[in-house]
Amino acid sequence: MIENHTIISKFDENSRIVVTESDTLSTLKSLPNSKFKLAVSSPPYNLGKEYEKQIELQHYLDWQTEIIKELSRITSDNGSIVWQVGNFVDNGEVYPLDIHFYPIFKALGLQLRNRIVWHFDHGLHASKRFSGRYETLLWFTKSKEYTFNLDPVRVPSKYPGKLHYKGDKKGQPSGNPLGKNPSDYWSIIAKEWDNGIIDIPNVKSNHPEKTDHPCQFPIELIERCVLALTNEDDWVIDPFGGVGSSLIAAIKNERRGMMIDRDPQYISIAKDRVRAFQSGSLKMRPLGKPVHKPTGKEKVAQMPSEWLDRKQERLI
Ligand SMILES: C[S@@+](CC[C@H](N)C(=O)[O-])C[C@H]1O[C@@H](n2cnc3c(N)ncnc32)[C@H](O)[C@@H]1O
Repeated sequence: MIENHTIISKFDENSRIVVTESDTLSTLKSLPNSKFKLAVSSPPYNLGKEYEKQIELQHYLDWQTEIIKELSRITSDNGSIVWQVGNFVDNGEVYPLDIHFYPIFKALGLQLRNRIVWHFDHGLHASKRFSGRYETLLWFTKSKEYTFNLDPVRVPSKYPGKLHYKGDKKGQPSGNPLGKNPSDYWSIIAKEWDNGIIDIPNVKSNHPEKTDHPCQFPIELIERCVLALTNEDDWVIDPFGGVGSSLIAAIKNERRGMMIDRDPQYISIAKDRVRAFQSGSLKMRPLGKPVHKPTGKEKVAQMPSEWLDRKQERLI
């Protein structure tokens, strides 16, 4: 039973939902040491989106280094930081941000546990390079002793009926009744049943969670991190919280959640979404729901007749 806790604006360890409208770095500096089990975010990528001003890459990374230092300080010794990033693109040249972020985390003594590839099937069609269809989540822990709960995020096994064929357990089921490890490749197109990969669409206009935010997390993406890397009542923080997707992933699963964003419009949407969640009216894709697959019979799946001749020409 999820209780309807009050949303407060300043961190208090006895509260459960904190939404702070402020600059990230200054707020992080005000937070106590080692209180958060998970810091998870998608920082601005320095692309000049409506919520950021593009700056020189090294200046951007210096600023992010300050943020990550603070996050490391406020994360508990058995806690994690998950940094979800894509590419910075300058004059057509691509800089994969995870390559630039890795040494920042490493220099702070954090240890990489997974570099998760989040693959999605929609996006801009590039004309001078291959279209980008994945981003990554760098999962770091503060130490070797960290929370990792595999059972709540297992996915159905491909062959649940597989048996041990030799040894003491010969003839007994070899898998796990709760399913298998979801792997470090989380995709939208692949079939969970066939490939054992986690199936998460990105949030585009036909997604039930879409708000006015241009780069919103699907809640289920963060739910997987929350379920695997924290326990009930632990604190989860998203330092660039946008419209509150990580916050909802946390409170939906009985964790305590805090988010920071400096944009009053996003803060207002985030609070509305929390209230809608509490009243049961927030539209969300349920965790693990398979992605709709076209049957091939839809009008948009049909080859236009004027293209059929050209296809024939290529086959001859
Ligand atoms: C990539 S978006 C995160 C979106 C979020 N994952 C969601 O699901 O809504 C980055 C966010 O960082 C916020 N932001 C950028 N610079 C900031 C700063 N210095 N302090 C606080 N928030 C900032 C922007 O307003 C934006 O909402």
